[in-house]
Parts: sequence; C-alpha cells; structure tokens
Amino acid sequence: MAQFLWVIFPYLSIVVLITGTIYRYSYNQMLWGSKSSEILEKRLLRWGSLLFHWGIIFVFFGHVMGLIIPLQVYQFFGIPSEFYHMNAEIFGGLAGLSVWIGVLLLLIRRIGNKRIRMNSTPSDFVALIMLFIVVSLGLYVTIIYNTIHGPYEYRTTVAPWFRGIMTLHPDAAHMVHVPLILQLHAISAFLLFAISPFTRLVHIWSAPIAYITRAPILYRSRVQYRSIRDQIVNRYF
Ligand code: HEM
Repeated sequence: MAQFLWVIFPYLSIVVLITGTIYRYSYNQMLWGSKSSEILEKRLLRWGSLLFHWGIIFVFFGHVMGLIIPLQVYQFFGIPSEFYHMNAEIFGGLAGLSVWIGVLLLLIRRIGNKRIRMNSTPSDFVALIMLFIVVSLGLYVTIIYNTIHGPYEYRTTVAPWFRGIMTLHPDAAHMVHVPLILQLHAISAFLLFAISPFTRLVHIWSAPIAYITRAPILYRSRVQYRSIRDQIVNRYF
C-alpha cells in the first residue's frame, strides 16, 4: 500500500498531468484557458481572485523553501529550526489564509450565483472543490496541527520524499510515519495535479509572465472620440 501511495500514485498523476496537458493543447487550442465569467459577476470575483492568486504565489515559494531546499542548506547558513518554523507559520499561515479565503469566495460565487452556476461546466466545480480540499489540509497543518503538537519537521521526511519523486529516486519509507493530515495533503495535491489538464487550471501554463517585461501597447482609436452629447447633437440636430 505504501509503495502504491508514495511511489506509483505520484508517478501516475505526473504521467496524466503531462499527457493530459499535451492532449488538451493539441486537441483544441480554442478551448485552452480559463473562460472569463467577469461579465456575469464582478464583486466576489475581484476579492476571491486577488486573494487566491497573490496568496498562491507566496505559498508556492514557501513550498520551494520547505520541500526543494534541503535542510542541510539551512544548517550550513546557521538558520535555526525554530526560526525557520516560526517564519513558515507566520508567513505561510498568512499566505495560506489568503488562498483559503480566496478559494472559499470563488466557490461560494460559483455555487451561489445562479448566472455563474448556469455557465459553469462540471470541471469548474471539481477544480475549485479539489483546490479547497488541498488548501484546507495544508493550512490545517500550518496553523492548527503545528500549534497543537509543535512544529512538525517535514524537511526530514516529506521534503526528501518529494525530491526523490522529482529526481526519479522515490522512497516510500520517508512518508510512512508522517502525520495523516499531511499525508492527505500530499495525496490530494497529486490528485489535483492529475485532474488539472481537464479543467480551467490549464491556464497556469499560459500565465502572462512576459506581460511584466514586454513593451507597453498603446491603443488608439481609428475614429476620433466624440462625447455622447456631440454624437446626439450631430445626429439629431
Ligand atoms: C505534493 C505536493 C505538496 C506537498 C508535498 C506539500 C507539502 C506541504 C507542507 C509540508 C506544508 C506545511 C508547511 C508548513 O507548515 O510550514 C504545506 C502547507 C500548505 N500547502 Fe502544500 N504541499 C503540496 C502541494 C500543495 C498544493 C498543490 C497546494 C495548493 C494548491 C498547497 C497548498 C498549501 C497551503 C495553502 C499550505 C498552508 C500554508 C503554507 O504553509 O504555505 N500545497 N504543504
């Protein structure tokens, strides 16, 4: 079972993620992306989307610091574990809270607003519900589990397991004694990776990064602007 959960399942998810994304891209590029629903509802979208997207950027870098950078690097620079975990809890907690509130608002909007609900596909609901589950479990670890039991040192268990998966040296033994809530977080995250090519989450791969550095585009009208008053005057008088 451990071998399935911590070796076979993650690789299955990665294979589905890669092949699914290539298939979706080659099948119909017109359907690639995240169809906007801004025209149907704006107020909740603005708050939900901003909180989610800003939060997830910080959560992403938090995961790089916790999972990708080995513990030895922190030890080499003399960064104490207490200091690392205090920062992870404060900043990770704040970023996680922002993501959680953002997803919750987006979910409430998609289910509660009739116009949005009628214009949604089943995959829109699945993506948001999966995001909500993954984020809630992660946030539970950072805010609640760590407060009750003290900071869990995932840099000696989850992190080497995750790096092992990425470097094709998987070792299920790292994950066997990890707290259940963190195990569920990791499994649900891989499930989210697997379903993502079949949802609006594909827009991650088209994030407009070049937008930051590209030359500004100046829009000019080919017709001269006229005020509404001028238009009425010209037309009727
Ligand atoms: C297999 C992949 C993943 C692993 C191994 C993983 C692992 C972890 C760990 C160890 C923590 C606790 C951090 C701490 O308390 O300092 C955490 C927290 C968290 N995770 Fe993940 N995670 C994964 C994927 C994801 C994904 C895909 C998302 C979001 C879509 C996510 C969202 C969060 C959030 C919101 C928190 C709480 C805030 C934070 O500490 O950053 N995780 N995760």
